[in-house]
Amino acid sequence: MGKGVRSKNINQMNSMDKVVLTLATTNLGKFKEFDQFLSDFPLILKSQPQDFEVEETGSSFAENARIKSIAIANLMGTWALADDSGLCVEALSGAPGIYSSRYANNDVERIQRILNELESSSNRSAYFVSNICIAAPGNEILLQVDGRCEGRITHAPRGLEGFGYDPIFEVNGTGLTFAEMPKFQKNKLGHRGKAFSKLETSLRELLGNC
Ligand code: IMP
Repeated sequence: MGKGVRSKNINQMNSMDKVVLTLATTNLGKFKEFDQFLSDFPLILKSQPQDFEVEETGSSFAENARIKSIAIANLMGTWALADDSGLCVEALSGAPGIYSSRYANNDVERIQRILNELESSSNRSAYFVSNICIAAPGNEILLQVDGRCEGRITHAPRGLEGFGYDPIFEVNGTGLTFAEMPKFQKNKLGHRGKAFSKLETSLRELLGNC
């Protein structure tokens, strides 16, 4: 996925010359990661209303990220950053993929479902994808990038950090699941961190080379 800077659209600046950016997620784990990635940008971060759900009707991570960022930018009247992400398991033909958050009722059940489905499989290869989109009110896409992290599904959950599928995803070359890593290591090696590093320069340009 390429990235494109379409406009400087800096209508959203406040008196401190900081742009307001709403993080289009109700997932606390994602919110915390973006809060860290964006900590040294001249942005005022807001959260979206917890009871506002955007229907993910797209058929790809990219499409869903655009749908969510545009909906929240229009709702809030600010720039909005959305990430659509998920786990793709090779032996399950890429499932759960864009349905990762809907694969079962909660994280414990989602993890158990993957472990059950892979029980007899020796192919444990999997990867996480993150597609990040920043939109401005008026259906304007400012930036869009994606990132990927390769790994394998463990035979049992390990570790206590993170969220979602972190305890069963071991990152290639580390011997550690995301849930066993310190935050800085997940931020560096993870799919969201990799996607974010692709948009960092363009975001600084959009913000007037801060
Ligand atoms: P989304 O909110 O539709 O993008 O759903 C993403 C879902 O994918 C989350 O609810 C998690 O189940 C899973 N997911 C995405 N990123 C991660 C991660 O970094 N660790 C663990 N699970 C993740």
